[in-house]
Amino acid sequence: MQDRRQQIPEPRPGIDSQSTYDVLIIGSGAAGLTLALQLSADVRAAVLSKGALTEGSSYYAQGGIAAVLEEGDTFASHIEDTLNAGGGLCDPEAVKFTVENGPAAIGQLIDHGVAFTSNDETSDKYPYHLTREGGHSQRRVIHVADATGKSVENTLIVRAKERQNISMFENILAVDLVREKLAGGYLGRCVGAYALDTQDGRVKLIKARAVVLATGGASKVYLYTSNPDGSTGDGIAMAWRAGCRVGNMEFSQFHPTCLYHSEAKSFLITEAVRGEGGILTTPDGNRFMARYDERLELAPRDIVARAVDHEMKRLGVEHVYLDISHQPTSFIEEHFPTVYERCLEYGCDMTKEPLPVVPAAHYTCGGVVTDQRGRTDVEGLWAVGEVAFTGLHGANRMASNSLLEGLVFAGAAARDIDVTLDERAAPPELPAWDETFVTDSDEEVVVAHNWDELRRFMWDYVGIVRTSKRLERARHRVELLLHEIAEYYWNFRVTSDLLELRNLSQVAILIIRSAAQRKESRGLHYTLDYPEPDTSGPPQNTILIPE
Ligand code: FAD
Ligand code: SIN
Repeated sequence: MQDRRQQIPEPRPGIDSQSTYDVLIIGSGAAGLTLALQLSADVRAAVLSKGALTEGSSYYAQGGIAAVLEEGDTFASHIEDTLNAGGGLCDPEAVKFTVENGPAAIGQLIDHGVAFTSNDETSDKYPYHLTREGGHSQRRVIHVADATGKSVENTLIVRAKERQNISMFENILAVDLVREKLAGGYLGRCVGAYALDTQDGRVKLIKARAVVLATGGASKVYLYTSNPDGSTGDGIAMAWRAGCRVGNMEFSQFHPTCLYHSEAKSFLITEAVRGEGGILTTPDGNRFMARYDERLELAPRDIVARAVDHEMKRLGVEHVYLDISHQPTSFIEEHFPTVYERCLEYGCDMTKEPLPVVPAAHYTCGGVVTDQRGRTDVEGLWAVGEVAFTGLHGANRMASNSLLEGLVFAGAAARDIDVTLDERAAPPELPAWDETFVTDSDEEVVVAHNWDELRRFMWDYVGIVRTSKRLERARHRVELLLHEIAEYYWNFRVTSDLLELRNLSQVAILIIRSAAQRKESRGLHYTLDYPEPDTSGPPQNTILIPE
């Protein structure tokens, strides 16, 4: 094989106004870093993060990663549970592919040095402790206490830093993808991205022969979310603008149990608390899940979140309770040290009393349509992790299947990029970002106001329970907002707040359009106007195609 580094100029250190790499990976979460680490050592990769390297959802993952690891569990069982949770919309091939590649993906993390919590039983069982979460008929969630993501992310960052061929850049926010211009005005393959260096405020061009979106989800489109601030759907919006289809955007997952506290910013209480015996009660102490599902607190997440929402509305209360105080204190401290400590900071002692909890937006099941190699509709562009729509989750993601999806599909995409890289010519000359006609905005306050307004009416009109009328109202408001933002975008120097608002609004309209198109209730999409699933034919994905 040729030495690939001979084919393109050596990049200058740092992100310069023009840099060239073999592979540009936008996103430094579990998906992006896994992909980077699985590229051949002679492939030069740049990994971008719009904030600190750790500031994606991956770092905050609590419960763990689902995979068939212990004797007695089977691929067939994990597949069946995933299909059941997905409300008839999972792609069986994607499910099989993910589940069957799960054990190897976990093996790689162990090889990288992730110190999963061990099994304290001194038998010849699987050496790591497996917990249980909603929808799983078996204990199959491997974890690092209740801070799995922190351990995985920190380990992957350390490994990536050791690699000569991987350069990682913080505070670089990708603005838009760049496609090659062909004769006749047609657009060809993806050859890089424009990205805002948030330190110096300049937009730079980064060229590459292969570009990967690993930008995470879009739950920040809702007022209350378990996600970090960066989950603004940038990758979905960029891919849409670049000509990719997006799928199943109506399926926004709400996690049933985030801490209800004015200062907690929707801190997640892991589903593993319910997996280890936690129960949900109304404020007067009544356990209510039996009225909704025979699997009680371990029903799939769409059912539990809707039940919590229904109880809150029925009783006119601001939260319900999650109670695990019947377990020994030592058990709680050992299994949930992070949650225990954080709750104590807010004055709640989960070893002694129930925790007040509410649902919050948690996961974007839809995303950029990809195949099993992570390829999108645009040549030269891949998407992996939460940004992607692979078909795995259907109408409702099963707990702890998303890190698994990110790891498995990142591996597949890395292999695909590796074997096809030599076929891809170096990127052509491309124009630098043009700022000739823009000025600094003096109305930052308008951007901040629009952020708040968008997230509030998405919560009110496009949340857990929807109606056609509310969707129509939301659509009208977002369209006005998009118009206003476009004016800003073209006239003023871009800022990260403006770019994220532009992306959030774009994603909001995709969610609203998809939700309006689905004339039934299924999985995470529940509308009072069509409260039952449509059984007149096979379930359909909602695929939106850019004009
Ligand atoms: P992320 O980890 O979100 O990373 C996104 C990356 O993209 C970041 O580096 C960000 O800076 C970068 N980025 C985004 N936009 C841009 C841009 N424009 N330019 C440059 N960089 C950009 N799943 C499980 O399977 N198990 C769990 O236990 C679990 N617990 C969770 C707990 C919490 C609190 C949350 C929020 C999620 C949890 N999830 C869990 C979901 C799971 O963590 C995410 O789906 C998964 O980590 C997504 O990984 P990712 O690599 O796709 O994206
Ligand atoms: C949790 O720990 O409850 C989150 C698990 C997930 O989102 O998969």
